[in-house]
Amino acid sequence: MSEFAPKKVAVLISGRGSNMASLIAAAKEEGYPAQIVLVASNNPDAKGLETAAAEGIATCAVDHKAYGKDREAFEKALNEEIVKSGAELVVLAGFMRLLTPWFVKQWEGRMINIHPALLPSFKGLDTHQRAIDAGVRLHGATVHFVTPEMDVGPIIMQGAVPVLDDDTEATLAARVLTVEHEIYPEALALVAAERTCIEGMRVRILGSDDMEEDLIAPVV
Ligand code: GAR
Repeated sequence: MSEFAPKKVAVLISGRGSNMASLIAAAKEEGYPAQIVLVASNNPDAKGLETAAAEGIATCAVDHKAYGKDREAFEKALNEEIVKSGAELVVLAGFMRLLTPWFVKQWEGRMINIHPALLPSFKGLDTHQRAIDAGVRLHGATVHFVTPEMDVGPIIMQGAVPVLDDDTEATLAARVLTVEHEIYPEALALVAAERTCIEGMRVRILGSDDMEEDLIAPVV
């Protein structure tokens, strides 16, 4: 898939780590252009840390609580671990801490996030219930580059699912999560293979012409 050596990636999580697990699985595939060198969490009890360790991946916890209100001190400690790992890209996979402009600047153009909604709709938390309450017919997930403003950066890939009449927050979240697990490995592959080019708020995909069609996953 790639003419480059696989890009080294640090994945940041706060909890379950199912997106992280989908990235680990993808990275095992022959020719995948990224290699996960570190899984780091702000939460020492994050389940995903165990999953990653069981896969033989280096893990670390930098507990934000130990730094009180000093966000930058927490981020500096976290950043040190990431830099030490040799990571070239940072992937946020359910990392539930707001990042300061300082941290975002360190990884500008090299840090991506997955958000459980079709941005720019439903930034922030409780996206699934808010989508149901708003009566939207389509919901989904977005992979985007991280910029200082939360859930706002240039969009790499989106996947949509229908909202059904009898959906609860849980059923809708499960449907969206399936799509998250599909699009995140694909989006990371594009970034790692240097096939993304940020032009303002738009991301141009370099390489194959027919790829463009895949950037919006079909409604499933
Ligand atoms: C995922 O649904 C992800 O999109 C969301 O947290 C969940 C983490 O699940 N992220 C955000 O809400 C970020 N704003 P996971 O730990 O099983 O990947």
